[in-house]
Formats: sequence, structure tokens, C-alpha cells
Amino acid sequence: MKDFIQILRRFVPPYKKYLFLNIFFNIFSTVLSLFSFALIIPILEILFKMKEISYNFIPWETTGMDLKDIAINNFYWFITEQINTHSEAWALMILGAFLVVMTFAKTCTSYLSSYFMIPIRSGVVRDIRTFVFKKVISLPIGFFTTERKGDVMSRMTGDVAEIENSIMASLDMMFKNPIMIIIYLGTMFAISWQLTIFVLILLPVAGFVMGQIGKKLKRTSLEAQQQWGGLMSQIEETLGGLRIIKAFNAEHKILDRFIKSNNKFFKITNRISRRQAMAHPMSEFLGTCTIAIVLWYGGSLILSGDNTISAADFIYYLVIFYSIINPAKDLSKAAYAVQRGLASMQRVDKILSAENPIKSPANPVRINSLNDKIEYRDISFKYNTDWVIKDVNLTIKKGQTVALVGQSGSGKSTMADLLPRFYDVEKGGIFIDGVNIKDMAVFDLREMMGNVNQEAILFNDS
Ligand SMILES: Nc1ncnc2c1ncn2[C@@H]1O[C@H](COP(=O)(O)OP(=O)(O)OP(=O)(O)O)[C@@H](O)[C@H]1O
Ligand SMILES: [Mg+2]
Repeated sequence: MKDFIQILRRFVPPYKKYLFLNIFFNIFSTVLSLFSFALIIPILEILFKMKEISYNFIPWETTGMDLKDIAINNFYWFITEQINTHSEAWALMILGAFLVVMTFAKTCTSYLSSYFMIPIRSGVVRDIRTFVFKKVISLPIGFFTTERKGDVMSRMTGDVAEIENSIMASLDMMFKNPIMIIIYLGTMFAISWQLTIFVLILLPVAGFVMGQIGKKLKRTSLEAQQQWGGLMSQIEETLGGLRIIKAFNAEHKILDRFIKSNNKFFKITNRISRRQAMAHPMSEFLGTCTIAIVLWYGGSLILSGDNTISAADFIYYLVIFYSIINPAKDLSKAAYAVQRGLASMQRVDKILSAENPIKSPANPVRINSLNDKIEYRDISFKYNTDWVIKDVNLTIKKGQTVALVGQSGSGKSTMADLLPRFYDVEKGGIFIDGVNIKDMAVFDLREMMGNVNQEAILFNDS
């Protein structure tokens, strides 16, 4: 839950306006639905002929009386008027018409709340995608070793999609349902606090059971996304090395390896989906258990005749309580989905928080042309553990043409890559006109260079 709020705090602020509108319409629609449920009370009373009292119209501006009580009284007065002048069936029809109008208003506001939630949902996903892409562009070449490329791709596509399908898809419920539950619970308190306290003791027990399942879900999701990253790496490697694979008749070997990983992924996803499928039946069962207990307790309150709650009110109460169960169920489902998404968010964050070791200094020395010479002074460099370049000195005068000749793998390309700071030297330094390239802005440094590569790359662009 803490992680979830943190994600909201990070990504939702640009969409604050929409969030307020969403919350506003959520509250509005919940209140309207309470009103439409409330119509069930007079309907029941008419059907079972429970009220024989006659009502008088109370003027709206009467002082010393709650507006709510006046409204209820006048509403009953209006209905009894209809019964007396027309018939009971006519009164029922009018109540039905009220119900239709109320429900129409309720569904409209409920639609509006979703309407304003949608741009938040897709906007946040768009932003995450842009952030990751921006980060990937800024990270140094050294970050993307071959085995990492597939994994980065799986994070940028699979994990971002997972975030969209889980966290963002649940956003609506995460906001709507708690509002509904709180307002409904408040009304339930107003109708009968004894019954509601009783309900509140039951609910946490059910909630605890559900929470235990959610925790495990996040762990397995992380495993699944890792496995998926591994698969992507294998695909990327295979596509890149297809020539080698075929030349050495290694199709079988590669296929075996792929099938093994694929099966492992299959097993993990099965575990996740099964656990997730458990959420619904579980909450349904727990929900029905609570309803049964409430029915028993509330029923005995009415039958004991101590006037805490009338039968019609109790039915209204049950309707509200029943209406809480669905949002609560959805909320638990959403909470599961969020857990899954959080695992993906963690993986995306690994990229977002990756350090770029190749930095421009705060106050760079400004140089925009080569006047004299480029010097490599006592440089040493290694990619991993073995030194590729050791104590090399080289001076290149302006206008000179220099060719590096050597065996394959002797470090020619590496020497060249050090100059635009694709990698940084470990020891020594490279100087342009006496200025260490680490003291220059990376942009200025590369701005001075042209680069023709061993492998040609064509971009699908002009
Ligand atoms: N990204 C990398 N990660 C780890 N090691 C690397 C990497 N790139 C090159 N190497 C290793 O560094 C050494 C020098 O490689 P480099 O590509 O500079 O050689 P080269 O002289 O350009 O070879 P060629 O003539 O084949 O282009 C080699 O042993 C190579 O295996
Ligand atoms: Mg080379």
C-alpha cells in the first residue's frame, strides 16, 4: 500500500485536476445511489401496509425542525396523498419513476467519474514510457551489454504494459470503492450503529485472510517478470547470432535452452494466475458468511422488539450492506493486481534509477574546436576484469592522419571509443589541447567529432 501511494505521488501530480473531478463525481454518484436505495423503504411499507399514520404537509421554511425530517415527512405526505386520491398502484408507479430518474443521475455521474479517471490512467503510462526511453538514451553504451539488451526491452515493453494493465487499470477502483465503502458505512451507522459495529468486527477478519494471499503474489510476479526478461534476452541473442547457430548446427541446443526457460515461465505464470483466481471465490464466500451472520443478528434485533431498527429499515440496511460487498470484492481484486504491477514497477525503476557514470562536470571548460593536438596520457582501461589497454601514450597532431593497426581484439575500437567518452578510462587521461575531456561537457566533446562505424546502422527516418 505504501509503495502504491508513492507511485501516485510520483506520477499523478500533473493530473491533479482530473483526480479532483474524479473524486467529486464519485462522491456525488455514491450519495445518489443511497437515495435511490432509500426508495425501497416507502415501497415496502406500501406493499406490506406497514404504516397507517396520516401525514400533514409541513412548510419548508418551518424553523426548529431538520430539513431532512421535513423532507422525509413531506415525501411521505406526497405519497399518501397519491394513494388516497388515486390508488396504491399509482403511488408505486410514481416511486418507480423516482427510482428511474435517480438511477439515471447516478449512472451519469458514475460515468463522469470514470471519464475523468481515464486520462490519468493512460497519461501516467505514457509518462513512464517516456521517462524510461529518455533514461535509456542517456545511459552510456557500457550499460547495454548483449545479455542486458533483451532484458531492457522486456522492461520497457512487458513491464510497462503490466503496470498499465494492473496498477493503472485498478486506479478507478482504488479511488471509487473506498469512497463508496466509507459513505455506505456511514449510512449504515446512521441506520443502526449496533448492527454496524457488529459488521465492523467481522470485516477485518476477512480482510486479514485476503491480505496474506496478496503478499505472496508480489514475490511470484517479480520472479515471472525476471523469467520473461531472460526469455527476451535469449530471443535477442538468437536473432543476432542466427548465422553462428546455423553454421554450427546448434539449432537443437538453442531450442532446448529456450524450451527450458519457456517452461519455467509457464510454471510461474500458472502459480500466479491460480493464486489470483482464488481472490474472487474467497471473497465471495467470506462475504456471504458475513451476510448470513448479519441477517441472523439484525433479524433477532427486530424480533426481540426493542425498536432499534424497523423491518423496512433493516431491508434498506441489507441492500446497502450487500452493495458494499461488491466494491469490497473489487477492491481486493484491485489490490492483488496492484501487487503484480508493483513488481513490474520495481523492475522499471531499476532502469530509471540506474546511475550514469559518464557525467558532464558542473562547470565545464568550453572548447569547440581542435587547435593543436589530442593526447592519450598513460591510459589504462578494462571492460570487466582484464586490462584491454595498459599504459598507452599517443599524441595526434591537428591535421595528422593516424591509423591503428593490430590483431582483431587488440583494442583498436576501444581506443577510439574512449575519445567520445563512450567509456571512461580507468587510469591516465585523454586531453584535447591540454584540456582533460572529463572537464568538458559531453555534448561539446561529441559535437566536435564525426564517427563512421564498422557496422552500418540505418535508421528508419530521413
Ligand atoms: N563491450 C565489451 N565488453 C567486454 N569486453 C569487450 C567489449 N568490447 C570489446 N571487448 C574486449 O576488448 C578487447 C578489445 O576489443 P576491440 O573491439 O577494441 O578490438 P579491435 O582491436 O577493435 O578488434 P577488431 O579488429 O576485431 O575490430 C577484446 O578482447 C574484446 O573481447
Ligand atoms: Mg574494432
